[in-house]
Amino acid sequence: MKKLVTFFLLVILLLEITISVDSQNPSLLKFVLQWPPTFCIILNSAAQPGRCKEPIPQRSLALHGVWPADQRGHSLTCPAQPDPNWNQVFTTAVANQLMAFWPPLRENAQQSDLWKHEWRTHGVCGGTTAQVYFNTAIQINNMLQKGNLFNYLKTSGIIACDSLSFAKKDIVAAIQKVFAQPLDVYLTCIPIDATNRTHIYLSEVTLCTNLGGTSFISCPSQAAPTSCSSGAKIMLPHPKPQPRALWSFHEEVNGRDIS
Ligand SMILES: *[C@@H]1O[C@H](CO)[C@@H](O)[C@H](O)[C@H]1NC(C)=O
Repeated sequence: MKKLVTFFLLVILLLEITISVDSQNPSLLKFVLQWPPTFCIILNSAAQPGRCKEPIPQRSLALHGVWPADQRGHSLTCPAQPDPNWNQVFTTAVANQLMAFWPPLRENAQQSDLWKHEWRTHGVCGGTTAQVYFNTAIQINNMLQKGNLFNYLKTSGIIACDSLSFAKKDIVAAIQKVFAQPLDVYLTCIPIDATNRTHIYLSEVTLCTNLGGTSFISCPSQAAPTSCSSGAKIMLPHPKPQPRALWSFHEEVNGRDIS
């Protein structure tokens, strides 16, 4: 009896290992774009508040990152790897292309800080070199025939305006004009404030591609976020005034003291 139990436990253990190894296999890429004003609102109100570089872009969505995911759409995590030789990865030609759609939004961020962070956190899970990872990002961005996703939203009348809000399905329909046929995308949203239940802000839009980044596919329904699904109308905020950086506050106070 004891042997039998041990045997079954072993089988279950093996099955679980197989399943978890299987689900850790990269099978698609998530091309995660963010609406910069919403990113900056989140950054400003973080536990350790940060600030965005001004002016905050409001005529483009910025790439957050390219995230290898399993077949259910869950982003992969994996052990750290030694950094590649960044000078070889970010040649002037590559850096110029990345800057056009993957700009650093944080104040004081170096050009390549976000790119390095995304490679270390997500890129290393995709089973390619850093060169291939960043070239794939460029390639996916080039598949947007109207350039930035902003242009697709704008032509459908989805713009940042204090008096306009949109149903999720209308935003999705506008984004789907990127594709030859309607494919599923992910949207994420954040609350406007602690009390407002009728309106929310658009935060991120995720397009999915095959692992090589050569064609768009539907993002799997299993990992679809629900933050835009409450039925609340979705808005694109304009850039908001940012809290002052601590150092400039001190500087100003000191300046007043002296004068
Ligand atoms: C929620 O936000 C929208 C958009 O700013 C606003 O029109 C509405 O009055 C707000 N509702 C509440 C209850 O604050």
